[in-house]
Amino acid sequence: MCGIVGFTGSRSAAPVLLKGLGQLEYRGYDSAGIAVLDGGSIRVEKVSGRIAKLCEKTRDGAAVPGVIGIGHTRWATHGAPTDVNAHPHLSNDGRFAIVHNGIIENYLALRDELIADGYVFESETDTETVVHLLEHYYDGDIKAAVMKTAARLEGSYALGILCTDAPDTLYVVREASPLILGIGVGENYFASDVTALVSHTKNVIYLEDGEIARLTPASITVCDCTGREIQKPISRVTWNVEAAEKGGYEHFMLKEIMEQPAAVKAALAPRFRDGRIRLDDLELTAEELRQVNKIIITACGSAYYAGCSGRYAIEKLCRIPVQVELASELRYSDPMVDEHTLVLVISQSGETADTIAALKECRSRGAKILGIVNVVGSTIAKLADYTLYTWAGPEIAVATTKGYTTQLAVLYLFAVCVAEKLGRIGAEQYRNAVRALQSLPKLLQQTIDMNYQLPSVASRYASRSLFFIGRNTDYAVALEGALKMKEISYLHAESYAAGELKHGTIALIDENQPVIAVCCNEALAEKTLSNIVEVKARGAKVLAVAFRGNKGIVSQADDVVFIPRIDSIFSAALAVVPLQLLAYYAAKEKGCDIDKPKNLAKSVTVE
Ligand code: G6P
Repeated sequence: MCGIVGFTGSRSAAPVLLKGLGQLEYRGYDSAGIAVLDGGSIRVEKVSGRIAKLCEKTRDGAAVPGVIGIGHTRWATHGAPTDVNAHPHLSNDGRFAIVHNGIIENYLALRDELIADGYVFESETDTETVVHLLEHYYDGDIKAAVMKTAARLEGSYALGILCTDAPDTLYVVREASPLILGIGVGENYFASDVTALVSHTKNVIYLEDGEIARLTPASITVCDCTGREIQKPISRVTWNVEAAEKGGYEHFMLKEIMEQPAAVKAALAPRFRDGRIRLDDLELTAEELRQVNKIIITACGSAYYAGCSGRYAIEKLCRIPVQVELASELRYSDPMVDEHTLVLVISQSGETADTIAALKECRSRGAKILGIVNVVGSTIAKLADYTLYTWAGPEIAVATTKGYTTQLAVLYLFAVCVAEKLGRIGAEQYRNAVRALQSLPKLLQQTIDMNYQLPSVASRYASRSLFFIGRNTDYAVALEGALKMKEISYLHAESYAAGELKHGTIALIDENQPVIAVCCNEALAEKTLSNIVEVKARGAKVLAVAFRGNKGIVSQADDVVFIPRIDSIFSAALAVVPLQLLAYYAAKEKGCDIDKPKNLAKSVTVE
């Protein structure tokens, strides 16, 4: 959840660290700090609150001299987001400073042990145990101390370590938290995410669990947990720094909403050849697919809701039963999974702790794992048997938009491809489905263009609480629409299967309760229309999302936002766009911090 950075070179470190932290702020933003080594001692500057405050305090780094340092932006787990709990943390002798992303699960036992040995704790964090352990094990050999310390830790960690005895050297070690090394010219870097590295270099090394790296301005050496040096491949980042900048938009979220046509095109286009879908990375033959008697989709947050939409497409086209499970539930549910289960693990970041745990749980029971992931080289991409990348490019806003729609695009490809391999759809249905998917980017652009009036609609509907209703694929969209609204505007929002309203929830409907009705599933449009009539009869104001040309709805709903027509199986990818914009403009009207909603983080690497 937190973001860590490190720099060693010959120019001033603090501005580089602050810039990197700014690019990682989406990972957590309740406090931030840097530690810079200069003249033999480590200076730590840290504040509760945003990185902007740290920049102010340090005059954009100018007030902190030194050419080597580490930095941290925090999403608090242990201890409130105070100055004292902010990272970096120092050892009692001032020799070590560390930054940490992850959770040390056995920190209480370690803390007791260290206190008994006379170490003094300043903070309430789990992280502080690590820096005192380093001091405890240090006998002049930093690498040995790092290895001994790591061997004592349970949980997840990416650690960046600075030591006064090695004035140009950084040490890092990772276990179940992302850590990437950047290779510069006469300087080197580390960060939790490549977004913090691309403005310096495109040559990176992805560290694996258990690996330790030593960075000086001129070299990077990596060793395994036994201390044996290993050769790591150098990867090239394929996108430009502009992709991780706002490019004239007021918020990353708006930019990412607008990027959806291009992002979905990037996810789809390379997978069509000669009018056919080619999923080169899914090496399952028709025979192997025939052995699959159940598909489980597991994920968290919006990725889970993408799974809810995907389920309808897969069941309808492939006729394989699909279960969609929250990863945080699945991991502890003693799941009925075996070698005939195919598990689709969906994650934008590829680092979500619960999702990784659910993956491992299913794998241990013999299931094959297909990862649907955006971040290249992420943990889920590595653990899965097959990975289909969503190719959305960097997504910075905490609330996902293009991450979600590209997940849908890949799920649709999967559904159509598998259905055809299994002979569950005929040649004509296949051709039509391929054509529909090929048109998705263009239709997404039209959807965006058609919804220019949403800012004024949002201001009328952004009341204290909203209901989102729909049936089938529209229900899946309602779930994501309500989540978007909650995440960024802090308005209460409920999503309901439209047919379920009358079983209790309709008691909440009155003239103060706006209802957003998603009505893009043609087979069920009449049914949802009846539900609209029911809520209208109780005074609710209704905003409907419907296909262009749906005249029936205009006479019933108070307002309608239209999307272009597409086969209902795929309509979620279009219908979600007005709901994203609605949430965006509602949050803007309320003056919320849209890209960094309170209490949230983009990459949830803790349970
Ligand atoms: C967080 C984010 C959500 C995201 C969820 C799952 O809660 O705020 O936007 O959907 O994590 O993240 P993942 O990276 O696994 O898709």
